[in-house]
Amino acid sequence: MTKNYLEQYDAAAEEDKYPLVQKWMKTEPLPFFKQLREERPILVSPQCTLIALFTDVRDSLQMPTIFTTALYKPKMGVTDTDPGYLMAHDDDALHYREKSIMKSMLNRDDIPRIRKLIRDSAKEILDDAKGNIEIVNDYCRMVPAIMVQEYFGLDGINRKKLLKWSYWNQYNTFHNQPFDLNSETRYNEIVDIHAQCSEELAQYVTILMGRKLVTVYLKDRFLGKALSFINIFRKIARKPDLEFKDDILKRMIRSSFAPQVDFPIARVGTNAGGLLIGSVETTSQAVSQVIDYFLERPEILQEAKAAAIDTNTTKIDCMVWEALRFVPISPYLFRQMSVDYTIAKGTDHETTILAGTNVLQLTQSAMFDEYSYENPEEFDSNRNWYHNFNFGFASHDCLGKYVGMAMIPEMVRQVLMRNDIKATGKMDYKDGPFPEEYNLTWK
Ligand code: HEM
Repeated sequence: MTKNYLEQYDAAAEEDKYPLVQKWMKTEPLPFFKQLREERPILVSPQCTLIALFTDVRDSLQMPTIFTTALYKPKMGVTDTDPGYLMAHDDDALHYREKSIMKSMLNRDDIPRIRKLIRDSAKEILDDAKGNIEIVNDYCRMVPAIMVQEYFGLDGINRKKLLKWSYWNQYNTFHNQPFDLNSETRYNEIVDIHAQCSEELAQYVTILMGRKLVTVYLKDRFLGKALSFINIFRKIARKPDLEFKDDILKRMIRSSFAPQVDFPIARVGTNAGGLLIGSVETTSQAVSQVIDYFLERPEILQEAKAAAIDTNTTKIDCMVWEALRFVPISPYLFRQMSVDYTIAKGTDHETTILAGTNVLQLTQSAMFDEYSYENPEEFDSNRNWYHNFNFGFASHDCLGKYVGMAMIPEMVRQVLMRNDIKATGKMDYKDGPFPEEYNLTWK
């Protein structure tokens, strides 16, 4: 018999209602969301409003100035004098401009090169581990950190510091919101650690930018002409051009924008920090959870292992994306209402959501809505990608989406290729929001 969540919810005292919702989202999201979709697609809880149907989730994400990212503002450096990071801006000039510039900097033609970088670094870490690894810290966090250094160009720093800055930023932004119900002490503790990390990150980025500027200008100016000359001969000899070492930061500095574009060097620095923060903890959580998902399901594991050894990676990539539908890094996105808005007009669940209140768009529920997929509860790697919300949706969709779409499956793939791969215990979150320890062995 299916559990009646809504009966329990209705019978609970006001202060117990949201804690129940929170518990179900953590421990049994799929049956809970199914019941919401069938019986109460919009649940107005004391803490926030939950939206469960695919069409309503999609609709709300397409109205960024109504369903806003205001909750990101205090977490992303927005003050009266500093616009902070683009993610805390909804459909304004800054967001439109900087997201577009950053998308073109992360040229999708780089993906094969990134995938090779991931493959090589992943393989090296696993080879060195000699059949025994604590995968979360030594691999799932480490490989994206290498990518951040080598491809994005946040180099010349101890990797552990990058991990720490990314971790606390993600923690404070995504797991220290009113509906996370952290105690006041814990809330303040997380805010303080994040503030300290932001300061350290800002100092590092300032020095980094100075170093990159000097390298780019000196090399480009003094050696550029010599290089062009050498390349004339290389062309005659049908050899590829020699180029200066490229990374995203250098690429941003080398691309000069007219003042009217309004992308000065200070904004390059802010966006450099965003590249780090977006990459590490998200990838680590996704990779750890997918490995765990496969290792816990022998029938799917067998298929995934066979797909992993294939040099054509299409199948393993699709399997990893399908696994993430079951174990996403978060079951929801969250927004704050700027005005009163009536959603699902003309339906029997039409609801007015009040200005200033918070909303959880249950993206995992949307991915299990029959509107999105046939037999949504089955694992099927041949799904239409366009109804997948793992990288967000609409104007705030993930900037690193195509990097992540290559990096995550490649990292999982390298682990599954190991002979007789096994977990020696359960994956441990150590009471926090992220995977922290997961020990694997192989022969
Ligand atoms: C690989 C490096 C990554 C970078 C540089 C990156 C960066 C970003 C940025 C800048 C945004 C905000 C875009 C905006 O507001 O317009 C974003 C959004 C998002 N990213 Fe990523 N990200 C990365 C990886 C990932 C991964 C691995 C996942 C999950 C598997 C992920 C999930 C998301 C989601 C769900 C959003 C939407 C947030 C929202 O709508 O509020 N990202 N990402």
